[in-house]
Amino acid sequence: MTTNPTLLKPFNSQQISPRRIAFQFGSQIPRLWFRNSSIMTQLLNGTNLFLPAFEAYMVHTVQGQLRHLHDPALRSQVKGLIGQESNHSQAHEQYNDILRHQNYRFETYLAVVNWFFERLMPRLGLPLQLAAIAGFEHLTASLSEITLHHNTMAQAHPAMKALWEWHAAEELEHKNIAFDLFEAIDGSYWRRVLGGVLGIAIVVTFMTTGMLLLAAQDPGFFSFKTLSDLNKLLLTEYRLIPRTVRHIVPYFQPKFHPSQRDDRHYGEQIFPPSAIAHH
Ligand SMILES: [Fe+2]
Ligand SMILES: [Fe+2]
Repeated sequence: MTTNPTLLKPFNSQQISPRRIAFQFGSQIPRLWFRNSSIMTQLLNGTNLFLPAFEAYMVHTVQGQLRHLHDPALRSQVKGLIGQESNHSQAHEQYNDILRHQNYRFETYLAVVNWFFERLMPRLGLPLQLAAIAGFEHLTASLSEITLHHNTMAQAHPAMKALWEWHAAEELEHKNIAFDLFEAIDGSYWRRVLGGVLGIAIVVTFMTTGMLLLAAQDPGFFSFKTLSDLNKLLLTEYRLIPRTVRHIVPYFQPKFHPSQRDDRHYGEQIFPPSAIAHH
């Protein structure tokens, strides 16, 4: 992927637009590209498995709402969201090909994921789907902030670091949009709460099952190291569970809006504002 920040548009949540990127995933990416740890690598790889179908689903659902939107500012932001998520979906699809080349097996799992997003989710009806998408996006933005704040990817392979940080920064950049869209189309507080619970449960379930599916294919899955790395990841070192819970609780307050949390500077670390000075 392009890592020259001057080629990337500066962070700007007022005007969402997709960035042109060129991924160069080669065979040089080791199987265990995060601290040589199976469980830590597979949390991200396992998340990657469902991202193409998940983000394509969001794009498709949100796109169907464009004709109901009359506010030009929101329309243009929603189009920006669609552009960014389409790029993410494609990039993570390429990444799944790397996992295939590394001989991981997950085609049946992907069939379930596709069925879930293409067949099951649409049965919820539009307002609840939009509420769930707002919930997905809140969890995604929370995980993105946690990742960038703690410089978590510093210990990852550089190609993977670049990919996940690009994705995280764009998630922070467009974090208001799905929420604003839900408010514009429906806006029921209780539906937002239900969608939030549902959205978060869905993402956590796919992240966890994907991680376990891949980690079980690595040697040494049934070992003390697996438990110890899991403990570091979730509770003691990266503290993913307490940190995520702290971000999620405010979502359920009636007056919550994603913009109340100013996390701009994390996004600006990845897409610096000074980059425009040359254009
Ligand atoms: Fe995304
Ligand atoms: Fe997103």
